Amino acid sequence: MCGITGYIGSREAAPILIEGLRKLEYRGYDSSGIALLRGNTMSVHKKKGRVSVLADEIQNHPFHATTGISHTRWATHGGVTDANAHPHVSSDGDFAMVHNGIIENYEYIRNFLLGQGYTFSSQTDSEALVNLISYHYNKRTGENTPNRFLEAVRKALLHVEGTYGIAVISRLAPGEIIAARKGSPLLIGVGKNEMLISSDVLGFAGRANNVIYLDDGQVASITPDNCDIITIGNKQIECEIKEIDWALENADLGNYSHYMEKEIYEQPKALEDAIRGRISDDNSTAVLSGLNMSPNELRQIDRILFCACGTAWHACLVAEYLIEKYARIPVEVEYASEFRYRSAPLDKNTLVFVISQSGETIDTLEALRESKRKGFRTLAITNSVGSTISRESDGGLYQYAGKEVGVASTKAFTSQVIICLLIALYMGRMRDLSFPDGKEIVAAIKSVPQIASKVLELAPMIKETAKKYSKYDDFLFLGRLSEFPVALEGALKLKEISYIHAEGYPAAEMKHGPIALVCPECPTVIFANSEDILPKLVSNAQEIKARKGPLIAVTDSPKAFEGIADDIIELPKVHDSIKPIIATIPVQLLAYYVAIERGCDVDKPRNLAKAVTVE
Ligand code: G6P
Repeated sequence: MCGITGYIGSREAAPILIEGLRKLEYRGYDSSGIALLRGNTMSVHKKKGRVSVLADEIQNHPFHATTGISHTRWATHGGVTDANAHPHVSSDGDFAMVHNGIIENYEYIRNFLLGQGYTFSSQTDSEALVNLISYHYNKRTGENTPNRFLEAVRKALLHVEGTYGIAVISRLAPGEIIAARKGSPLLIGVGKNEMLISSDVLGFAGRANNVIYLDDGQVASITPDNCDIITIGNKQIECEIKEIDWALENADLGNYSHYMEKEIYEQPKALEDAIRGRISDDNSTAVLSGLNMSPNELRQIDRILFCACGTAWHACLVAEYLIEKYARIPVEVEYASEFRYRSAPLDKNTLVFVISQSGETIDTLEALRESKRKGFRTLAITNSVGSTISRESDGGLYQYAGKEVGVASTKAFTSQVIICLLIALYMGRMRDLSFPDGKEIVAAIKSVPQIASKVLELAPMIKETAKKYSKYDDFLFLGRLSEFPVALEGALKLKEISYIHAEGYPAAEMKHGPIALVCPECPTVIFANSEDILPKLVSNAQEIKARKGPLIAVTDSPKAFEGIADDIIELPKVHDSIKPIIATIPVQLLAYYVAIERGCDVDKPRNLAKAVTVE
């Protein structure tokens, strides 16, 4: 959420910053801005709209500089206007700052600064902080303070409540950028006689291979060839430089029209990479050393709590079905944002899992911190190596799905689900799951990438179906058992990228309310891949037909829906354990093609952001 880039070195900063912003645009894209510094002169441009608007503006007003900061915004406080775009400049014109996060006590700070003669030109919380930095800088006039700029930022941050990732420049201190973080990711890319700043490793692509991850509560003074880090409490920190694994960060669009399309098609590979090296044929189980727990410790677990947000929360719901069924361990699923603030009683032998594609979602991160604070072993499933969640958890499993750029999550979801299935298998085989049953699941897991490829071949047919249904403004998605979360995910995909109102329900629950929506103007997508309850699902389909509701069946039993469903998306018959993965792919395609038909901006849907780093 919000992209930050910064550059200090010997090259022209503006093109490097704009290039970085384009790579980070998926994090927020309602407005963008840049501040450049040459000697004691600062040039600031900010524009409502996409990064391309800013790029044009800069071309029309060239300013040569080798230091700068920039930002692409996802609005929190204050509407989408040029004035509210970042960077924000202190009213004395001395400091410019880009900010990701929320300053919760900004009104208090603002009122204080108004009393000190500062003025404000935006409605943002961020402007309060940049003026506070100026205030602390000026408070030291006459004092011989070493690192006066760094100190001013540090002192200001001592008074801030909320979250921030910031980069600040000052015409009073050229040759230096100050960066700090609390709750919002910020990374420093180390180049040759140059340093970059970004809220995501992607911002460094092609520019730096080494990175310093700032931790919460740290402030860095960055020059072209040095990075000094202190804590907000003024303790010196040793810089740890890590190498970036670019194989995991590749985000080229290739021949695809959209990232979402590319990522849907990458699923066979992502699924393959998620299971690579994690299966033992000899023991018909999974090998999950990343959990950092001995078999003995894992056997002590009486209960598992899963926390996540958005699509990852749907993956948790599938995990509940899989783990309870195969490992017989009670599982509970919580929205991370709810878990954090309610006093959920947890038994002492509870294991906490968080799932987060980005590894940066603030609600999920705070749920992790809360459960760690309470003394629970907290593991993470994440797709982002080096992310805050991966660094703060006690152990976990990387997804290795490759960079996901499309705001609507696709490959990350199916890869999260297959990892949860590996966990179910692993913990099941430690308990009552027999060798032959384990063997069946192992075979099913191994077959997933190939079956996923086959299901992707349905794309042309699904594209045609999408044309027929794109005119509707309401949809129902129904599924049962592990396909209930798939129904939720199908509805979410449609909502996110085509702005169609869609609701997911357990199929049988339809009778208790949602059936009131069924009419010729409200199509239903029903998932029906479970033989045990097929007759029940067919009855639900009949109930919809009787009310003239258009119906799409996603099923491996097409005959059962002949004469009832208007359209049938036929899936192969597969092992029960992998059905939720296989059933998800067609509805990702359906959502994608419906959005295209409706002319929506698939990769940048309105109001959304890929990684939500504010509460
Ligand atoms: C945002 C994204 C969703 C994502 C959710 C959780 O809302 O738009 O696609 O599912 O955050 O993200 P995470 O990175 O924690 O999985």
